[in-house]
Amino acid sequence: TNEEQLAYLSELGVVPLVTLHSVEEAVPLAKALEEGGVPVAEVTFRSPYAIEGMKKIRDEVPGVTLVAGTVHTVEQAKASIEAGCKGLVTPAFTKSVVDYALENDVLILPGTAVPSDVDDAYQRGLRYVKFFPAEAYGGVKTLKALNGPFAEMKFLPTGGVSLKNAEEYLSLNNVFAIGGSFPVPSAAQKAHDWAAIAQACKDARALVEK
Ligand code: 3PG
Repeated sequence: TNEEQLAYLSELGVVPLVTLHSVEEAVPLAKALEEGGVPVAEVTFRSPYAIEGMKKIRDEVPGVTLVAGTVHTVEQAKASIEAGCKGLVTPAFTKSVVDYALENDVLILPGTAVPSDVDDAYQRGLRYVKFFPAEAYGGVKTLKALNGPFAEMKFLPTGGVSLKNAEEYLSLNNVFAIGGSFPVPSAAQKAHDWAAIAQACKDARALVEK
């Protein structure tokens, strides 16, 4: 169920953002996430390889939970669910995608940046959202402020989150997990250095477990 998926993401505490540079790297990259103790991948629609890569991960690395990232359209939402995704993440509060997810009982973590976005989610019954772009929109300070009027909301801060500030975000009671590209360092991805990606995931997990 969606509740179980949310509980699982909360337990992992980290949601790595994966933008595939090729279909071929999908499987080794997913295996590196799994080895690093973070068996979840938010595969983004920022490259043309998203759908094919999701299918490869679904078929060959079934231990990795797939989530679609940077979802802008209902078409992308449908295609990613067909390709094995268990949830959708949008950078903005994209009403068409949010409503599609709610109508079809698909897990949705819509992007929110300001109180009106958070309230749009709240009014639809959602209690878990992404907070993006986290650092640029005030980071920890903004999340603390949002906890007053929106005490029931839990956030996935993403955008400028790194190993340097992860602990601060994780210490907030309204943060259920942190997201971003930091568990998949771009240099390591370019070099196909899967061991370095597994290590970055382990470093992130160590902060969650602290
Ligand atoms: C996102 O779409 O969630 C962000 O672009 C990720 O930002 P980051 O690369 O700073 O983690």
